[in-house]
Amino acid sequence: MKYKGIKIAVAGKGGVGKTTITGLIIRYLVENKKGKILAVDADTNSNLHEVLGMEVRETIGNTRELMRTEVPQGMPKETFIEYKVMECVNEGDGFDLIVMGTPEGQGCYCAANTLCKKYIDILLDNYDYIVMDNEAGMEHMSRLLTKDVDHFFIVSDPSRRSVNTVKRMIDLAKSIKLNIGNFYVIINRAKNGIDKDAENFLKENNIDISLILPEDEYIAKFDREGKPTYKIPAESETVKRLHQFLAKIL
Ligand SMILES: Nc1ncnc2c1ncn2[C@@H]1O[C@H](COP(=O)(O)OP(=O)(O)OP(=O)(O)O)[C@@H](O)[C@H]1O
Ligand SMILES: [Mg+2]
Repeated sequence: MKYKGIKIAVAGKGGVGKTTITGLIIRYLVENKKGKILAVDADTNSNLHEVLGMEVRETIGNTRELMRTEVPQGMPKETFIEYKVMECVNEGDGFDLIVMGTPEGQGCYCAANTLCKKYIDILLDNYDYIVMDNEAGMEHMSRLLTKDVDHFFIVSDPSRRSVNTVKRMIDLAKSIKLNIGNFYVIINRAKNGIDKDAENFLKENNIDISLILPEDEYIAKFDREGKPTYKIPAESETVKRLHQFLAKIL
């Protein structure tokens, strides 16, 4: 059965602000929407929980491994994995979080993986919104948690190099037939607007910039102090601009 809620994914080059922005998208949903929200950390090097200020008990990757070796005697594998996937759900304030962890090996059709997928799908059905933070770059795109995404955010810094990745990601998403409702390009950490070259490149390729976010003092300060950037003050220009934008599209 097709998932009925709204799926949001955030992607882009390394270090451009994907996880920070994912956190602030989740915050928008928590503050403004009724409905159940699931945050998904799909980065192998997971750190969304730090941005959100949460502890993680168990990951999907670890669950898959456990199933190979540690199913209690007499317990059907199916029962075990159903129970373990539920254990991967971490409860936050107004949303839940799951961490995918280490991905399965390439072309892995083992029972553990198939069962994991089955119970993840059942889990996703409980939520009205799913927000996924993804790994940097493009290699992982073919193994996105899902091929259907309603809103796909590609984050870039204001440089020519970074916007080049934006175009490559859009092209790749189309070529591997991801089913994407809307693409949005976010330029993050724009101190003095966007590079002229980068702007021209986007224009030549008919790529619109949906949103420009500033270099943010609050984010930098929370970062320095090791505090979760999910909780920066609402007067932050990033929060204001991002949330205003989300109010238009969600
Ligand atoms: N607008 C901003 N102003 C100031 N600092 C920012 C801003 N956006 C992100 N940062 C900082 O930049 C660093 C990288 O951000 P983040 O982890 O969100 O990027 P990422 O794209 O998820 O990185 P990765 O590719 O490693 O997953 C963090 O220290 C974050 O706090
Ligand atoms: Mg990240």
